[in-house]
Amino acid sequence: MRILTFLGAIVAVISSLMYMLDTHLEKFYIFNPNQLHALSQSAIAAHGNDTRAVVDYIVAELSKTHPNHVNVEEEWVFNNAGGCMGAMTIIHASITEYLIVFGSAIGTEGHTGRHTADDYFMILKGEELAWKAGTFEAERYPQGAMHLMKRGEVKQYAMKEACFALEYARGWIPPMLFFGFADTFSSTLDFYTLWRTTLVTGREMLTNLAKMKL
Ligand SMILES: *[C@@H]1O[C@H](CO)[C@@H](O)[C@H](O)[C@H]1NC(C)=O
Repeated sequence: MRILTFLGAIVAVISSLMYMLDTHLEKFYIFNPNQLHALSQSAIAAHGNDTRAVVDYIVAELSKTHPNHVNVEEEWVFNNAGGCMGAMTIIHASITEYLIVFGSAIGTEGHTGRHTADDYFMILKGEELAWKAGTFEAERYPQGAMHLMKRGEVKQYAMKEACFALEYARGWIPPMLFFGFADTFSSTLDFYTLWRTTLVTGREMLTNLAKMKL
């Protein structure tokens, strides 16, 4: 009985803490979706379909505007989630935000995941299709467009051919990692990739935390 009371108290404390933090999440954000969108568009305007150069341009600009919170090393890892396969490199990861380049040179299709963060998907190359259950038409996001998935929303999405995006998520990031890792256990068994992903993500989150960036 005492244990139950204790557990109840812990749950109450944690959930009120989460609630309090939740109403102040905005304060922890250092990136802005509209600025990132504008940056992607100017990168495309400067380098078109030379996606190598587009990515370099974006990372170089961000490392000027956010010198303490941007990872300039490209560390590409495959990612399997929701039936989709792509590769990503982490530009920033903290408790409340992440910024990655994600995509596939041959396309992929699956479940977006239902997340605890708002997700802004800015297309750098190719086109993304998405749709919601209960609708009959695809949403189309061509090069330069931004696809916002609000926290809790879920869709099916597809990149029919080569497609790369700058993906920015803001909200609670740690719970999203479970979705990002689940396919390793149920499908790929690629534990080396899981290890590298965990290492890079953990390193970035802890480095940012050490700089008081939640
Ligand atoms: C990139 O290539 C696609 C397909 O060939 C083309 O439609 C698009 O206009 C190109 N974008 C730029 C910015 O050159």
